[in-house]
Amino acid sequence: MKVLFVCLGNICRSPTAEGVFRRELARAGWQDRVMVDSCGVGRWHVGNAPDPRAQAAAQQRSIDISELRARQLKPQDFVDFDYVLGMDSENLAAMQAMKPDHADAHVGLFLDFADTAESEVPDPYYGGDQGFEHVLNLLEAAAKGLVEHLQRGR
Ligand code: 4NP
Repeated sequence: MKVLFVCLGNICRSPTAEGVFRRELARAGWQDRVMVDSCGVGRWHVGNAPDPRAQAAAQQRSIDISELRARQLKPQDFVDFDYVLGMDSENLAAMQAMKPDHADAHVGLFLDFADTAESEVPDPYYGGDQGFEHVLNLLEAAAKGLVEHLQRGR
């Protein structure tokens, strides 16, 4: 099983989603069953490490995302991955526009797997540290939900 997380820059939300989901998989003993990656719709930050604020917020929860490097979403991703999950509706629109007709990846929002009131992960880039905490809380809820979803599917 392969899961790809998508946001705009691949330096805040989706690398954090990758780190949070990896930890949730490890807790379930499923780390060897699922391949995880993240990318961005935009190309401004390609090759860059996650935003220092995202790294610090994740580190506070003992999640290390410092080794991740940003890359851009490409059409082949919809062939290579089983789940391609965006953070907000803007990401989702860009993803749907790029998805090749023959690719049958599940394309949707990550928070569809969470029981949170919100359906989108807000972009924390221009906000304060509070925004990164909120992002982490949402991502943790969705990560738990997605692991349960994958486990039910067997
Ligand atoms: P992300 O946050 O999509 O969660 O990685 C952003 C990072 C950078 C920019 C926008 C959003 N930017 O415009 O550079």
